[in-house]
Amino acid sequence: MTEISIRQPDDWHAHLRIGSLSESVIDLFNVYGRVVCMGNLADPIDNLHKIISYRSNILSSVDFLPIIGAMLTKNSTLEKWIKITNLLYGRVFIKYLPEGVTTNSESGIAWPELENYYPILELAQDRRIPFLIHAEIDRDLKTGELIPEIAREKAAVPYVEKLARDFPELIINIEHVSTRAMVDLIMTHDNLSGSISPNHLAHRYEDVFDEQGNLFNVHKYFKPVAKAKYDQAAIIAAALSGDKKFFFASDSAPHYQADKEKFQKAGAFNALTNLTYLCEFFAEHNALEKFEPFVSESGARRYGFPLNDRTIKFRRETWTVSLIYRGIVPDLAGRIMKWKVIE
Ligand code: NCD
Repeated sequence: MTEISIRQPDDWHAHLRIGSLSESVIDLFNVYGRVVCMGNLADPIDNLHKIISYRSNILSSVDFLPIIGAMLTKNSTLEKWIKITNLLYGRVFIKYLPEGVTTNSESGIAWPELENYYPILELAQDRRIPFLIHAEIDRDLKTGELIPEIAREKAAVPYVEKLARDFPELIINIEHVSTRAMVDLIMTHDNLSGSISPNHLAHRYEDVFDEQGNLFNVHKYFKPVAKAKYDQAAIIAAALSGDKKFFFASDSAPHYQADKEKFQKAGAFNALTNLTYLCEFFAEHNALEKFEPFVSESGARRYGFPLNDRTIKFRRETWTVSLIYRGIVPDLAGRIMKWKVIE
């Protein structure tokens, strides 16, 4: 097969940033029908006023429908969330970044304190607002010791399990799932699903960290970190399974090259390659029929949206990923890609 047309995809998790960094990347997302725009800015998007202003900014320059991943923070209250959902139902999801686990999560709520915010989750359950979780924990709560990065998602499994039990009807999605343990948990609860980033299909822990656990390739550093073969194989199998619980979300997270190298910022800017990488991935696994459900159907169904009407077309044609794009080092820089989006 040399060409393939599929229904227009959605990106259910992307960091569009603000200011010049946002201007550098935002046009790349016009290929999607809907994009969940994460609100983990330095000043987190966590109230109605900030959501409206961030969303209007994005809307003024794009073709896709922005859905804001508004942050659950220590400033969140039930009253604020009632106002948000009254006005913006279907245009806002709730994003939970536990305190301290990743970029701009300082105002996030620690796992043990999440119960104090249960009235908001009850509202989300009643009103069918998806609750998106960055499922990691960075410290052992008994000893206070830092958990190695590779073990942080698995360590969060009991917390996610408790939440799944406490809110049987809540739409809970585990963002960028990266471990076998989390895949297994998702399979055992009807209210859990998992989005998969190409980052965890393409990269391995040993491409990023040495044997002592020291980071040596910051350009492949994103959170949750790439895993070793055992976990990577589970993510690949979940993507290829065709199970509707697993669907695409890029987690494209650009940082300027200088910032990334100086401050070791986590986040892979994969927006240049996501769809063509996934087309290649499904083609090479003789599973091209699973490509469209993975990128264009299962996520929309999970969140209760109609499928997009448009189609996009790919052609088998090689091109090389640039080494630098508007000051950002792209994921897969220098790699030869086998498919191209042509219309
Ligand atoms: C994201 C970012 O830079 O905003 N980084 C990342 O490594 N994925 C935050 C996040 O989703 O963890």
